Amino acid sequence: MNKSLSFLIVAFTLTLWVNAQDDRQEIINDIKPLNKACFDCHGQQYYTYTNENTGREVKKEMCESYLLNDSLYYQSNHFSFACVDCHSGEYDSYPHPPAARQEQLYTCTDCHGFTETDQKYQFSKIEDAYYESVHYKLEGDNFSCWDCHDPHSYVVKARRTSDIKEIISYNNAQCLECHANEDKFKLLTGEKMNVLEQHEWLPNQQAHFNSVRCIECHTAVDEELLIAHQVMPADSAVRNCVECHSQNSLLLSTLYKHQVKENRKQNGFYNGVILNDSYVIGASRNNTLNKISIALFILTLGGILIHAVLRIILIKKQ
Ligand code: HEC
Ligand code: HEC
Ligand code: HEC
Ligand code: HEC
Ligand code: HEC
Ligand code: HEC
Ligand code: HEC
Repeated sequence: MNKSLSFLIVAFTLTLWVNAQDDRQEIINDIKPLNKACFDCHGQQYYTYTNENTGREVKKEMCESYLLNDSLYYQSNHFSFACVDCHSGEYDSYPHPPAARQEQLYTCTDCHGFTETDQKYQFSKIEDAYYESVHYKLEGDNFSCWDCHDPHSYVVKARRTSDIKEIISYNNAQCLECHANEDKFKLLTGEKMNVLEQHEWLPNQQAHFNSVRCIECHTAVDEELLIAHQVMPADSAVRNCVECHSQNSLLLSTLYKHQVKENRKQNGFYNGVILNDSYVIGASRNNTLNKISIALFILTLGGILIHAVLRIILIKKQ
């Protein structure tokens, strides 16, 4: 390609990106003052308020579960929201009036499912899968989408990042938030459980938990969804090593699904998927690997052809 043309394209893309960042920053600047009072208390360990009866200033410690991180908030999907877009306007006053606590919180599909972007994310299919999940079946209305998608920090990862490790650690943290947090788990079930102990059968557990997500083993494989949402009971979890440690690894339709799809778009078919104990998948951008796998592909096709021709000849001879 012409050098100056490619320079122009790069410059144009950069401008778009910078503009998008500017737009985002502008929205944040508009919304910040609206949320300031809330973050003054909910964004720091100690908060102060004036006691209406005594007129005195009181300093108190914010309980940890009500503490929010403002920088994560403004990086999240819902960065453009005022707190009171989701929460009752009654929270504007403190002490919060009892009526505020009666608020009915929105679910995801109250707002999503109507636009083209929402179609892309398949909200209604995800909801159907969730209703079949063990969390809904065991916990019913005590559990909701918000339990895995923190309303104040959730971001889209798997679809946007090519860094597999980052996806794994983010997605696993979504589960470990409860399953490795005994207090939070106890709040829901009355029992304490740390799930790490239930996985001692897995050799080198730490290496596995850094290389695969919980949902690889615990959700029913879903051909349509990028992120399968039907978490199954523990007794149907994947235990069989070969499901991952083989050529047609389950990981291709789970963890590497997005990469596989993108790769197909670019190359016409998926190439260079090699999976064994030591080298688990490089959604291969490696050119040599690419060529080898294409060669293999052609050889295989050739093999099938020769085989077919031979069979036809043999059948005719009989
Ligand atoms: C002066 C400090 C202060 C301010 C300002 C403040 N909060 Fe709170 N908020 C608290 C404290 C303390 C609690 C926990 C104890 C309680 O409910 O009084 C709380 C609890 C909450 C809860 C949880 C209620 C429950 O029981 O589940 C929500 C939701 C909430 N605040 C939202 C907001 C929003 C939204 C704003 C801004 C419009 C806001 N707060 C402003 C101190 C504050
Ligand atoms: C996109 C909607 C949404 C926005 C925006 C939002 N919240 Fe929430 N918030 C929720 C939901 C839903 C819950 C209940 C979470 C649950 O049940 O697990 C909640 C819970 C809370 C709680 C109780 C503690 C907790 O984490 O469960 C506090 C405190 C709170 N929000 C404060 C705020 C403040 C302050 C802001 C603005 C900085 C804010 N929220 C913005 C949806 C939202
Ligand atoms: C009160 C309405 C509301 C609720 C509740 C809500 N969202 Fe959103 N969400 C929005 C709006 C508005 C945007 C920003 C505009 C857009 O991109 O669609 C957004 C953005 C997003 C995005 C980013 C879209 C993109 O590609 O940029 C995702 C993903 C998302 N929401 C998922 C969820 C999930 C999951 C839940 C429930 C756990 C949820 N939302 C709850 C209104 C809401
Ligand atoms: C048991 C935990 C869990 C529950 C419950 C849950 N999700 Fe998710 N969800 C995840 C994980 C993990 C991801 C992957 C996040 C990422 O990497 O972007 C995800 C991703 C998503 C995405 C983005 C999918 C994509 O294609 O990029 C949407 C939209 C979504 N969830 C909606 C929902 C809705 C709606 C509900 C409730 C009906 C729900 N989720 C309940 C764990 C959960
Ligand atoms: C908000 C807390 C919370 C989050 C987040 C959460 N879970 Fe759970 N999970 C529970 C509770 C509570 C149960 C039900 C335990 C019971 O009643 O025995 C459960 C049950 C399960 C079970 C079934 C166990 C059995 O005995 O059959 C599996 C598997 C599971 N969760 C996996 C996951 C995975 C994978 C994720 C992340 C995608 C996740 N959980 C996220 C709280 C959570
Ligand atoms: C390699 C597959 C695999 C991975 C990865 C995996 N699990 Fe499991 N998990 C299993 C199997 C198999 C069982 C059943 C163990 C048994 O019954 O002895 C199980 C059991 C469980 C249970 C039920 C524990 C009980 O006895 O009640 C929960 C909850 C759970 N896992 C959550 C998780 C979470 C959270 C993660 C991610 C940090 C995770 N798992 C990662 C395969 C896996
Ligand atoms: C959910 C998919 C999955 C399952 C199930 C699974 N593995 Fe793995 N395993 C992986 C991945 C991914 C790696 C990481 C490879 C790497 O990055 O080097 C790995 C790594 C390993 C390693 C090398 C660990 C190291 O020190 O680097 C061994 C050994 C191994 N697995 C054995 C097993 C055995 C035995 C089982 C069955 C009990 C099993 N795996 C089940 C996906 C899986």
